[in-house]
Amino acid sequence: MEKRILVITDYKDAYRQDISRSQGIDLVQFKQVLEQEGYAVSQITYNELVNHSSKKGYTDWYIVYTSSENIEYKEYIKDIIYDLQKRNEIIPGYDLLMCHEDKLYQEIYKRNLGIQSLDCQMYATMKDLQKDIDNFHYPVVIKNCVGAGSISVFKADNKKELMKCSKKIMLSKDFFEYYLKAAYKKVLGKLSPYYFEDEKYFGRLVVQQYVPNLECDWKVLVFGEKYYALRRNVRKNDFRASGSGKFSFETPDDAILTFAEAVYEKMKVPFLSLDLCINDAKQVYLIEFQGIHFGPYTLIESPHYFVHSGAWEKIEGKSVLAEEYAQAILQYIEKKLK
Ligand SMILES: Nc1ncnc2c1ncn2[C@@H]1O[C@H](COP(=O)(O)OP(=O)(O)O)[C@@H](O)[C@H]1O
Ligand SMILES: [Mg+2]
Repeated sequence: MEKRILVITDYKDAYRQDISRSQGIDLVQFKQVLEQEGYAVSQITYNELVNHSSKKGYTDWYIVYTSSENIEYKEYIKDIIYDLQKRNEIIPGYDLLMCHEDKLYQEIYKRNLGIQSLDCQMYATMKDLQKDIDNFHYPVVIKNCVGAGSISVFKADNKKELMKCSKKIMLSKDFFEYYLKAAYKKVLGKLSPYYFEDEKYFGRLVVQQYVPNLECDWKVLVFGEKYYALRRNVRKNDFRASGSGKFSFETPDDAILTFAEAVYEKMKVPFLSLDLCINDAKQVYLIEFQGIHFGPYTLIESPHYFVHSGAWEKIEGKSVLAEEYAQAILQYIEKKLK
């Protein structure tokens, strides 16, 4: 393939995300690194690409693209990228776009790659969840499919709590429409005897095996050969770490880095964000992951990174986000071409 890269940015002309969610990475710096390696870099927004470009049918490009935290806008991106990936090398692959802000597809993808981790069940209706309610090993962790900073993550100690919690997650406008429609049909004399057998709770969630007694989890970012690790302590009287703000750049157990490396290699991506935890028996679990549009705090603020050269080695020094994105992409392309 020719040495040319198309960078697709969003409505704000941003490639997300920098330290703030509303900020894109420095694309001038990013392009400089790629151009120094002989790549021609073009930039276009999704809107320009589908509506205004004479070249709607890009073919044989390396395409670097961004996602969105807005669900509607992400669906728009998915439509466009799904088409482009048929004729181009998109970076990262489509599965990682599917995984973005979608804890349910993350579990399906993880399972298919054979990444051993926590038991997990996935639901989108209360009727299906109810059928399995006696089969879980309590406590369990229940997570809304979308959400960050622990706001949509809960623990249920028994089936009553699980029902209560999942009803809250699945309570949407569908629920109210269900009863409104019933009332309307009744007035018209058209209420079918089967109507109330239908579902009124819809909402995607996962029920995950609970890892007890954790003091922290580890955010590990992987960019090419560089591993960045952030220890995140759980909140007071709580089991949740993300969003707690109790962060420190400590050296993790080797088992964390080695697990991160195995996941990174299986996923065949340029960069990755992993939430990992380790129990007293030194068993590591992958709590969740993102391969696009993830928070870069761990890279930007870290005073060092780790590389695996025989043993895990700590290299002192700060990293520049846009440069690391570009370097990781270069390494990824080089590996793919081999
Ligand atoms: N299965 C689990 N067992 C124990 N703690 C968990 C589990 N899953 C998540 N947690 C805790 O809850 C926090 C939030 O969960 P996570 O799935 O990462 O959601 P979010 O997208 O909100 O960060 C994690 O940082 C971790 O501390
Ligand atoms: Mg998390």
